[in-house]
Amino acid sequence: MSTAGRIPREFIDQLLARVDIIDVVGSRVPLKKAGREYMACCPFHNEKTPSFTVSPTKQFYHCFGCGVHGSAISFLMEYEHLEYPEAIEALARTIGVPVPREGAEDAPKRKRKDPNLYTLLEDAAVWFQSQLKQNPDAIGYLQQRGLSGKISARFGLGYAPANSNLGRELRQYGEDKLVASGMSIRNDAGRVYDRFRERIMFPIRDRRGRVIGFGGRIIGEGTPKYLNSPETDVFHKGAELYGLFEARNDTRKLERLLVVEGYMDVIALAQYGITYAVATLGTATTPEHIRQLLRLVPEVVFCFDGDRAGRDAAWRALENALPELRDDKEIRFLFLPQGEDPDTQVRSIGKEAFEAQVATALTLSGYLLAGLKERFNISTKEGKARLLNDGLKLLSTMPVILFREQILGELSTLTDTPLEVVQRHLKKNSADGIISTYNQARQGDQDVRRTPIRHAIALLLHNPILVEVADSAEQILGYDLPGTGLLAAIIENIEENPHIHLAGLLERFRQTEHEGVVRRLSNWRPETDDEAVIRLEFADCLQQIRRQSRQKQLEILLHRGQTQVLTEQERSDLAYLLLQDYKSPGA
Ligand code: UTP
Ligand code: MN
Repeated sequence: MSTAGRIPREFIDQLLARVDIIDVVGSRVPLKKAGREYMACCPFHNEKTPSFTVSPTKQFYHCFGCGVHGSAISFLMEYEHLEYPEAIEALARTIGVPVPREGAEDAPKRKRKDPNLYTLLEDAAVWFQSQLKQNPDAIGYLQQRGLSGKISARFGLGYAPANSNLGRELRQYGEDKLVASGMSIRNDAGRVYDRFRERIMFPIRDRRGRVIGFGGRIIGEGTPKYLNSPETDVFHKGAELYGLFEARNDTRKLERLLVVEGYMDVIALAQYGITYAVATLGTATTPEHIRQLLRLVPEVVFCFDGDRAGRDAAWRALENALPELRDDKEIRFLFLPQGEDPDTQVRSIGKEAFEAQVATALTLSGYLLAGLKERFNISTKEGKARLLNDGLKLLSTMPVILFREQILGELSTLTDTPLEVVQRHLKKNSADGIISTYNQARQGDQDVRRTPIRHAIALLLHNPILVEVADSAEQILGYDLPGTGLLAAIIENIEENPHIHLAGLLERFRQTEHEGVVRRLSNWRPETDDEAVIRLEFADCLQQIRRQSRQKQLEILLHRGQTQVLTEQERSDLAYLLLQDYKSPGA
């Protein structure tokens, strides 16, 4: 395993100064010039009118529809599904320069994904496929389940024979690698043997199509019915969706994704032409899953069996979905009749009827209200209060979006409680909940309060030239208000590299404590391009910041003056502050 060192920050600065984001984006997405910027239909969500903009001066992209934004590096990470260093490598290649590394030898051994594991798993998948071809029983089982040869090949199905000797086939990788990949198990006696035997093998691919693990189904009855790869360096169940690669491969621009429970469901649906189904890997739907899904498509439909377990799983998915909701996204829930799963259902009713069912799936708010009604008896006052209480707890995890207001209204009607009362209680709930602060932090623009400092930071990020009229970093630190540390750090960064643009600043704060705030504030776009207006706005922010700082010091001194005798210096400060306050009141 190579222990490549950190990529020097100066190199990233230079790289971003030399590549042009217009080329990087333009070679992948058709861009049209519109004034100073370029526009396109957003490649990260589905839309018919363009709301994706790329700015050559800021070297920054931003979608007004879905909120994605960032530098050429983050664009490559998102669009090509690359890791951060990979995106830098890719950019550097376009201008033909090698990526230097800092102290490669003594860099701390960071956990990097081992490229060998991917080739090992790919080789394993190929071997299982060759075994399937030689095993009539396994082929017979798949036929009996109604799978065509074509669909089996598309999903790369294979077979691990009873006397599997995968370990021997792949011995060139060494026992440790085989164990690390999850393909082999080392028992207490130290003997290494194959994990999967006598099972139909379903390769699980990541978003880039690399095999990262397997599910193995027993032929016929037995336990466990499915055996899955363990978590490894490259396989994380909570973050992967079975069939996502195949679905994206099949349809360039997905409109909707259907989330089902099983491997066989995904495959049967695909065989019937419903090529947009994915499955969680025997785990509950995680927030990470939902984030990924909503990034890709505007509509996600969860499909569950109609039994108790299905209902419980659906409710958990709902809880995990709430914090991720946005007004331009839709999540719905489909419950199949008792005893059916998507595999049996689509085989019995066919594509059209199945899709008609999908079209009638419950909306998220419909399901939320129905679920609450089912749990509480709303014919009593107590039942209504408890329903409202539970409902508000759920809503308090949601971002502040229109959709939340609508559900609030429905809760108010359902429980005969005036809307203001419902709203007040929601506020209280939100103030109590840690989750909701976390959501606010993630949510971004709309709901972060515009303090003068935040506004100043946003303006400066978008217009580094404003540093000319800013106070010095030292002065800013002296103001001692929340956010002054970051504002000062940005000023220092611009002074150090006067030609830096927004994208460069974003990258400078990547992997620092300020990363999240900087990202969020970079999403606040100044309302005008007019430099004179922006300068005035910035000057006004600084003035407000100074005033707030004086006000704060004034309060501290006045408070102290009530309980102790002020020193000479403090008294003269106080006199000065009072005079300032008198000159410019109303901080
Ligand atoms: P199901 O029992 O619904 O399986 O489990 P299925 O996909 O319908 O399979 P068939 O039709 O009986 O062949 C749903 C999913 O739960 C996980 C698997 O991911 C499976 O696809 N699971 C189930 C396991 O991981 N282990 C098990 O033993 C059972
Ligand atoms: Mn099934």
